[in-house]
Amino acid sequence: MDKSEPFEIFLVVTPGLEQPLAEEARALGFDAPVVSPGGVTMQGHWTDIWRANLWLRGATRVLVRIGAFRAFHLAQLDKRARKFPWADTLRADVPLRVEVTCRKSKIYHAKAAAQRIERALSEVLGATIDPKADLVVKVRIEDDLCAISLDTSGESLHKRGHKPAVGKAPMRETMAAMFLCQCGFDGHETVYDPMCGSGTFVLEAAEIATGLAAGRSRGFAFQHLASFDAEAWDRMRNTASTRTPDARFFGSDRNDGAIANSIRNSEAAGVGAITRFHRAAISDIAPPEGPPGLVIVNPPYGARIGNKKVLFGLYGAFGQVLKDRFQGWRVGVITSDGGLARATALPFLPPGPPVAHGGLKVKLYQTAPLP
Ligand SMILES: C[S@@+](CC[C@H](N)C(=O)[O-])C[C@H]1O[C@@H](n2cnc3c(N)ncnc32)[C@H](O)[C@@H]1O
Repeated sequence: MDKSEPFEIFLVVTPGLEQPLAEEARALGFDAPVVSPGGVTMQGHWTDIWRANLWLRGATRVLVRIGAFRAFHLAQLDKRARKFPWADTLRADVPLRVEVTCRKSKIYHAKAAAQRIERALSEVLGATIDPKADLVVKVRIEDDLCAISLDTSGESLHKRGHKPAVGKAPMRETMAAMFLCQCGFDGHETVYDPMCGSGTFVLEAAEIATGLAAGRSRGFAFQHLASFDAEAWDRMRNTASTRTPDARFFGSDRNDGAIANSIRNSEAAGVGAITRFHRAAISDIAPPEGPPGLVIVNPPYGARIGNKKVLFGLYGAFGQVLKDRFQGWRVGVITSDGGLARATALPFLPPGPPVAHGGLKVKLYQTAPLP
């Protein structure tokens, strides 16, 4: 057990999905996650930071605060940055870049502040500053307090590392996972996405049901920090145990390419055996075998496709098919347009909060089991 002071950890999330991420963090046993705009704050040690990167499906990245000091002017920032214990966390041989934001502070020139910190890092730690470096030191100067954080994730966590084939307008894996949670999916029911595109919902659902760690196929920035312990990390990764799910996961799409992509992705993710994909237009879909579960879908929406009339027809047909053939199933629809959601004529509960997606705001519209 690590007896040192815990760090403040900030889980960045797509705005609008803070609540389900906090619930996910709580369910994974992290210490008292608290929602704040754009993320979730919690306390923990390095092993918690590794575990958060490996397991959380909703977080976009995991930041750790490694210290803070007051600085009222650039000369003071320069001096205090030189005294900062960088070597406790950073390695001289790993290139870095520095990002600074300033708010309500005497130091307001972010670029000048970044330059002071970069100079301290290169002269005191001996690190190379590279604007293309994967490792990012994030400095937030607010009310003259200079808080220093590290991005421990590297590439955004929606990149799971096992999705070779991506089509048009894919949903981010992190968002898909949070929408599944908001629909009450706990891994034990059938999930069907009848406009599956590259298969994101189906894959996330199948992985959750199998107990696969979200980040099992990728690397993380924390592996390049001084605090990294490769043996302990291997132990953490290898103790994950999977289960054989009691449900199956289905996708269909009218587009052949989408089906080929989904099959390829499901195999790469190691869930090929519990997923099924087939080509079908929405008017031809039928409930998969087994007890009713969850239909979840993000159909095309206006801003991307242009032709509104066709879209109203598509949403109307989708709603009708579900009401006719999917009794007992719950439905989750993610769309940017309340009018299109209404065009399904499905009995939606009040929609979820707006969530940023590809320059638009989308909402989750969900139903109780259909009568
Ligand atoms: C926004 S994309 C879904 C993206 C998907 N969630 C992903 O993460 O890759 C919408 C999908 O709906 C499919 N689609 C559009 N009209 C359809 C129809 N009438 N029947 C079946 N699929 C349709 C498209 O081929 C496209 O793959």
